Amino acid sequence: MKPSPDKGRDRSPERPHPVRREGPLPAERVPLILEVLPGADYALLDSGNGEKLEQYGPYRIVRPEGQAIWQPALPRKEWQSADAIFTGDTDEEGMGRWRFPKAPLGETWPLRHDGIDYLGRFTSFRHVGVFPEQASHWDHMAGLIAAAKRPVKVLNLFGYTAIASLVAARAGAEVTHVDASRKAIGWARENQEVARLSDRPIRWIVEDAMKFAEREARRGNSYDIILLDPPAYGRGPKGEVWQLFEDLPRLADICRSIVSPQPLAVVLTAYSIRASFFAIHALMRDTFAGMGGTVESGELVIREKSAGRALSTSLFSRWVAR
Ligand SMILES: C[S@@+](CC[C@H](N)C(=O)[O-])C[C@H]1O[C@@H](n2cnc3c(N)ncnc32)[C@H](O)[C@@H]1O
Repeated sequence: MKPSPDKGRDRSPERPHPVRREGPLPAERVPLILEVLPGADYALLDSGNGEKLEQYGPYRIVRPEGQAIWQPALPRKEWQSADAIFTGDTDEEGMGRWRFPKAPLGETWPLRHDGIDYLGRFTSFRHVGVFPEQASHWDHMAGLIAAAKRPVKVLNLFGYTAIASLVAARAGAEVTHVDASRKAIGWARENQEVARLSDRPIRWIVEDAMKFAEREARRGNSYDIILLDPPAYGRGPKGEVWQLFEDLPRLADICRSIVSPQPLAVVLTAYSIRASFFAIHALMRDTFAGMGGTVESGELVIREKSAGRALSTSLFSRWVAR
């Protein structure tokens, strides 16, 4: 067999590698550690011994946390007062299980971010329907939208339960929200109602993120802000396979081609990957070569209330036009 001309992994003809962009690299700011502090709506109360104790609105929740290799700072009775505990035990479908030690709880409960109401949700994947560490990005984005003083279009790819879309819509943006899962879009639309933002322009699209972005490029549509929160591995509604290491370079490149003539930012977060933020930093700088601006990269962390330890949740890299 002939060796692959690009030395790397073979690519199928439909998913070619992007061509490296020419031009000076954007300025850089690394490392940038964005912290979420304990607040009234959400707080990381304590962590340790492979678990974390969090307050989500009215409920205290215990979940596994592999990085918490230290010991809890709060007494045991604080942990024992939890309303919900996610255990590694699985049900018939092989999913993890929630236990409710005090009283059975419904699937959803009211939560709020900065005055925006939405629903927390006990999902079988340990998640609770929100990633509170992303509040740093939401605030940054809302600031960009307000400062633009003009109509702003936001594209939220892999949008999940839509808290970012709601923050953008409330700040006055016109939002296009894309997710492969009909169920997740259902939750997202429910959140729009709970947030009383039903009159705001949010387009809900069940679609493979890559396919949607490619189509927008062909149609010549563009966006001022693009949010990208891809999982390490996922599937589109028609079984399209998403693999972050394989597919992110191409998706980032398409995002570059669909930013508007007066763009504001492209914000990428990455969870659960074996990489440093320098990897996505280098990719974003290369991708936005010739566009000016700055690429800022680092980690999203949550500051713990009990002993002030920082819990890292994810990597991010964002290109900010000015
Ligand atoms: C949970 S969010 C991402 C959160 C976080 N980045 C993580 O990995 O835990 C991932 C979302 O991407 C969606 N998704 C997965 N593959 C997709 C694809 N190919 N196109 C569009 N959305 C996809 C999922 O339905 C889900 O709502």
